[in-house]
Amino acid sequence: MQDLYCSSQLLTALSPLPHPSVFVFEEIDSTNLEARRRFLEGDCGYTLLLANRQTAGRGRLGRSFHSPSAGIYLSLLAPVDPNTLVSSVSVTCAASVAVRRAISDTTGKQTQIKWVNDLYHNGKKVCGILTEAVTIGDRAALIVGIGINLRPTNFPDDLQQIAGSLNETTVSRTTVVSSLLHHLIPFLTNPSDHSWLEDYRSASCVLGKPVSWTENGVTQTGTALSIHEDGALSVRDNSGSLHLLRTGEISLRALEN
Ligand code: BTN
Repeated sequence: MQDLYCSSQLLTALSPLPHPSVFVFEEIDSTNLEARRRFLEGDCGYTLLLANRQTAGRGRLGRSFHSPSAGIYLSLLAPVDPNTLVSSVSVTCAASVAVRRAISDTTGKQTQIKWVNDLYHNGKKVCGILTEAVTIGDRAALIVGIGINLRPTNFPDDLQQIAGSLNETTVSRTTVVSSLLHHLIPFLTNPSDHSWLEDYRSASCVLGKPVSWTENGVTQTGTALSIHEDGALSVRDNSGSLHLLRTGEISLRALEN
């Protein structure tokens, strides 16, 4: 299916933002890297970068993100006030809710959120989000990178048990991205808007579940309790102590067996 992005429709979706721009690449190393390069070269505006495929897609914790042409790969470069502390974890959480709403609105499919940045459908990861902060001199920006496995995809052997696709063949990528921007922009432009929290909590597949995590090199087990406004996850370990997780990741112990 011919599935090019429609820049004019995307610019309309970006219109609540001042002076937005859109760039579409057939192939690029990573839209997050390209956003960083543009920011460091002086790009000060809201910039949406989309790629048909990535050759070096980046995931959290130094991982790679498999990015064949069946997916949606985008980064939104968003200038922020360097004096205002914006938690990239909370932006990632808000973006998870925006992607979840967009998938539901445009495909009717429901996804679950695994703290902090993963969306699951039918037990497989279908979306990952990588939010990075970048500063130079007195300028700062957030780069919100989102990858969605939209079309049927053949994953390499090492990903087959983990990664899945929404298997959507009809909805256009422009439609999904426009909906995503519609849901994401209000959260980005108003960091004190925590209305994503309720959806995040109700779509979470970890709250109340037995989980494991690694803190200071030590693997612990316990139960996921709640998500805070800044995106932190509170967990209780099996000896009853509370921990607030802001980085790293958790494993759902039930899924490990
Ligand atoms: C993860 O699952 O750990 C996060 C994956 C984030 C992937 C997206 S795809 C678009 C953007 N460009 C990248 O290189 N990474 C993000």
